[in-house]
Amino acid sequence: MTILVTGGAGYIGTHTCIELIKAGYDIVVVDNFSNSKPEALERVCEITGHNIISYKTDIQNKQELEKIFSQHNIEAVIHFAGLKAVGESVQLPLTYYQTNIMSTLTLCEVMKKYDVKNLVFSSSATVYGATDQVPILEESPLNPVNPYGRTKHMIEEVLRDLVKSDNNWSIALLRYFNPVGAHESGEIGEDPTGIPNNLMPYISQVAVGKLESLQVFGADYKTVDGTGVRDYIHVVDLAQGHIKALEKIIDTNGIEAYNLGTGNGYSVLQVISAFEKVSGIKIPYSIGERRPGDAALCYADVSKAKEDLKWGARKGIEDMCQDSWRWQRKYPNGYSQKSIKIYSN
Ligand code: NAD
Ligand code: UD1
Repeated sequence: MTILVTGGAGYIGTHTCIELIKAGYDIVVVDNFSNSKPEALERVCEITGHNIISYKTDIQNKQELEKIFSQHNIEAVIHFAGLKAVGESVQLPLTYYQTNIMSTLTLCEVMKKYDVKNLVFSSSATVYGATDQVPILEESPLNPVNPYGRTKHMIEEVLRDLVKSDNNWSIALLRYFNPVGAHESGEIGEDPTGIPNNLMPYISQVAVGKLESLQVFGADYKTVDGTGVRDYIHVVDLAQGHIKALEKIIDTNGIEAYNLGTGNGYSVLQVISAFEKVSGIKIPYSIGERRPGDAALCYADVSKAKEDLKWGARKGIEDMCQDSWRWQRKYPNGYSQKSIKIYSN
């Protein structure tokens, strides 16, 4: 069975391509490489020993997309492509609404034309907004607080309307919590542009000496130690969740949202401590102000995914830190051409 993977060269996309290939699917990747490098797909080929058919195409380009659908017998789509930086979305709302929403509309129009009605969509826990009602259930109120989050919410609504209009569609909305970690080979991982906004890549870059010190955003929350608590999930567990969601949508019709997290929350200080333990490196940090828009606590109720998808995360916080660290120290400059492999097991 052939699966089209949009945004397949990105962080979660590459890890999912590996799991798809391992599960015996044929894949076709379409990516405009706006936030990724072709080298990431080359590494996926090396890891799996399989060639990947990939197209450098913007999925807003309907003609190009139609060509791809006419050339391959695509039966389902996993849709990762999109822009994902919260701060940037506040600065550039039109770019975010245009790219994320229009590309999804174009993709769905082409899927409809070619009678491909199985879709797994990358949503985000960000659709819930800054709630402190934890654990978060799929039925919890949706109240995104920034343009990025609103694009995800709007797309979810569009997809619900699509299913109402034609019950042959089968769609899974996967709401990821905090994806971290990397493939155990250390050959692929998260490669943020510039100074990372997210905790794990920031800690890794401090550990490898690219950044001096971490600023902890607030230590006066009502949490275990005052710092923010999140549901970190290993990207390989997350990738495997896509395979389970794919199996489910191929078997059924309709639309369902699923939380993909571990169901456990860790504070910033607990993550620092786990990272120090596995790396043997002290992470210098200072306590700073709260970051506007941050919630104190955010973790998932994952019983729906466990029940319906027969999926659950297996890896713990130390695996996540270990694998992030392996990738970071092997490739301190990510996929950049200047990167040199400085460490090998
Ligand atoms: P990523 O930026 O690494 O991957 C996205 C990929 O899509 C990139 O390779 C990029 O080049 C490509 N792309 C972007 N716009 C495109 C377009 N118009 N046409 C073709 N390709 C395009 O991001 P990721 O972390 O792998 O996230 C994948 C998806 O999961 C995104 O939709 C993101 O919003 C969502 N998500 C990510 C996180 C996270 O923390 N990483 C959390 C929740 C949800
Ligand atoms: C961020 C995004 C969210 C996205 C999620 C995916 C924001 C406001 N939200 O959420 O939309 O879905 O990533 O991974 O960007 N922290 C520090 N110092 C740092 C960085 C982070 O103390 O330098 C703290 C944060 O305050 C938070 C925790 O670490 O308590 C995790 O932060 P981060 O990795 O940015 O994730 P989220 O805030 O959950």
